[in-house]
Amino acid sequence: ELPVIVAMCGSLRKDSLNRKLMNEIIRQSEGKWHVKEAEIGELPLFNEDIEAEGDPESVRSFRKKLNEADGVLIVTPEYNAGIPGGLKNALDWASRSPKEFSIKNLPVAIAGASNGNVGTALSQMQVRQILTNMNANIMTNPKIIASRYQTKIVPESGRLTDEGTEKQIDKFIESFTRFVAVFGK
Ligand code: FNR
Repeated sequence: ELPVIVAMCGSLRKDSLNRKLMNEIIRQSEGKWHVKEAEIGELPLFNEDIEAEGDPESVRSFRKKLNEADGVLIVTPEYNAGIPGGLKNALDWASRSPKEFSIKNLPVAIAGASNGNVGTALSQMQVRQILTNMNANIMTNPKIIASRYQTKIVPESGRLTDEGTEKQIDKFIESFTRFVAVFGK
């Protein structure tokens, strides 16, 4: 049986480079992972009062997906040298209700794309730091830090045209598949 990988994108915009990168990772993982996408944009801003009133549907469905996960894939941009707020919000939700669900102990792989030369290294470092505190099992290498990603894809379809990145993604998928087999539940 294929491992269930829950994928979340740190960018909420329709034309997101990171969403396109995520789609390419999902496409290349066919036959190796069973991917379920989690929409973090639907989650309310984390608030313990909302939690106390009972989780809204968006939170329940997010938790349910993570509950079924053997591993988590996070593909995120870098905003102002750090993690986008929406993704931090999702991770805060994910850190709660440990009985029902927890990202704790789950294997996590992190990737990111940017339109500039700098890449998403700083953002990925922050995601790693936050997840470490949540006791997740983070795959450190190989990394996908895709800079100038708009030059590596067909703009409309988002399909990858860069052989180097394609190979990187293959290695990333292969490594995370092994990582999940070793560190997964
Ligand atoms: C950016 N961008 C950016 N890029 C980077 O490499 N380092 C950074 O610190 C930032 N900071 C930043 C802040 C804000 C508010 C925005 C909107 C953008 C550029 C970013 O990499 C680029 O917009 C990506 O295309 C965003 O990802 P998506 O939405 O295409 O997935």
